Amino acid sequence: QNNNTSISITVDENAPIISKHIYGHFAEHLGRCIYDGFFVGDTSKIANTNGVRNDIVEALKALKIPNLRWPGGCFADTYHWKDGIGPQENRPTIVNQWWGGVTEDNSFGTHDFLNMCELLETEPYLSGNVGSGTVQELADWVQYTNFDGVSPMSDLRIKNGRKEPWKVKYWGIGNEAWGCGGNMTAEYYANEYRKYATFISDWTNSGGLMRIASGASSEDYNWTETLMKNIPNRMLGGVALHHYSVINWNKKGSAVTFTEDQYFATMSEALKMEELVTKHAAIMDKYDPKRKVDLVVDEWGGWYEVEEGTNPGFLYQQNTMRDAVLAGATLNIFNNHADRVRMANLAQCVNVLQAVILTDKAKMILTPTYHIMHMYNVHQDAKLIPITFESPLYQFKEKSLPALSVSASKDSNGLVHISMVNVDSTKENKIEINISDLGIKNASATILSSKKLQDYNSFDNPNKITPKKFEDFKLKKGVLTITIPPFSVIMLEGK
Ligand code: AHR
Repeated sequence: QNNNTSISITVDENAPIISKHIYGHFAEHLGRCIYDGFFVGDTSKIANTNGVRNDIVEALKALKIPNLRWPGGCFADTYHWKDGIGPQENRPTIVNQWWGGVTEDNSFGTHDFLNMCELLETEPYLSGNVGSGTVQELADWVQYTNFDGVSPMSDLRIKNGRKEPWKVKYWGIGNEAWGCGGNMTAEYYANEYRKYATFISDWTNSGGLMRIASGASSEDYNWTETLMKNIPNRMLGGVALHHYSVINWNKKGSAVTFTEDQYFATMSEALKMEELVTKHAAIMDKYDPKRKVDLVVDEWGGWYEVEEGTNPGFLYQQNTMRDAVLAGATLNIFNNHADRVRMANLAQCVNVLQAVILTDKAKMILTPTYHIMHMYNVHQDAKLIPITFESPLYQFKEKSLPALSVSASKDSNGLVHISMVNVDSTKENKIEINISDLGIKNASATILSSKKLQDYNSFDNPNKITPKKFEDFKLKKGVLTITIPPFSVIMLEGK
């Protein structure tokens, strides 16, 4: 049975720009994300630049990743950056208290990360240690990375081989302060934030530093309210929000062999992002009606059981069509809330949680989520085209979810992009969009789909799921009619 949905498009010159930073990524010292992921060391047989895998750099450059968050996550509030600079033989070890209790040698530190960001042509987003660090330590880190005059920290940087400062703009003031970042109350953290933010100077005097407060977990609206009430807007660049699509923290289910029940539950959690950003943004509107402070969803994605035989603390999971649908729908939500959501970070980039890249020794594969991020990068810095429609329902047992997720934008070259996701696991959906106001003469489309929801790219079959040309649509008299198969994601380009 076919559903018919009519979508209307509003051409609105005042619509917001979809910040490219919505398409950000996250790299934590966790499992095989950094060590044995990005970083193999410069003596590795795997082709690398200063120890960073060249194949990963190329793949991420093709994604146009706009920013990369590091070194955590929970790890950030245990990390002392001075342990990761200077000659390797002098660097102390650190035991990763949160992730598997493994001992790290600090061989990947500030220089390695910031130089890697230059290779990736991406902006670094550093997460500062508030939980177990000091104000001085974080202020020193900013001086070390950003100050171009004479100072103790910039002199040390130069001594360690880097003359020009990196001028890091994005600074997280702690992470999950309500949990692994120190188990603080919102009121206590707001005061800590004010203190840290005061001493984290913009050494370049360019007005360029953006301080981001550790934000709420999912529907903890009181956290956002308390921060917005107690921290003056001028001290706040952004307020974070973390939300993972997890079925049940005690029984997360397999990443690959899941049932439709579990798929439905994951998608319910993913689509909850709509309500979360709407409600957190409404609270922010009360205290910041001009929308100067960004909502930064700096951790999102699907979280399942680890793959069998892997370290439970390493959070290594496969990535199926479920994750592609999840990513497409979530990114549509962010795009449609571009007036407040101006940054987001998928957790995490390589070998951890909803990764875009998985590695196994010298092998590297791109996951279905990678392909979604690639298809969607056309929305980066494009003007949102507001759309309205009533979605048909994806019915499962006695429950239902909106089956369709859509967002649209127009880029600076005048190209229009419409991204469409059919969340329904069994029914195709027919969409009609009157695009006559957009002046589109020709359209082409790409689809990401597969036979089974549980399909994935493996090291033996790395190209099982890749974007394909999609032609099952018509453009007639300004009306676009398109039939979108179950659990698939389509990107349409019009000019
Ligand atoms: O992304 C994994 C972990 O999830 C992060 O370290 C933490 O911030 C969150 O709880």
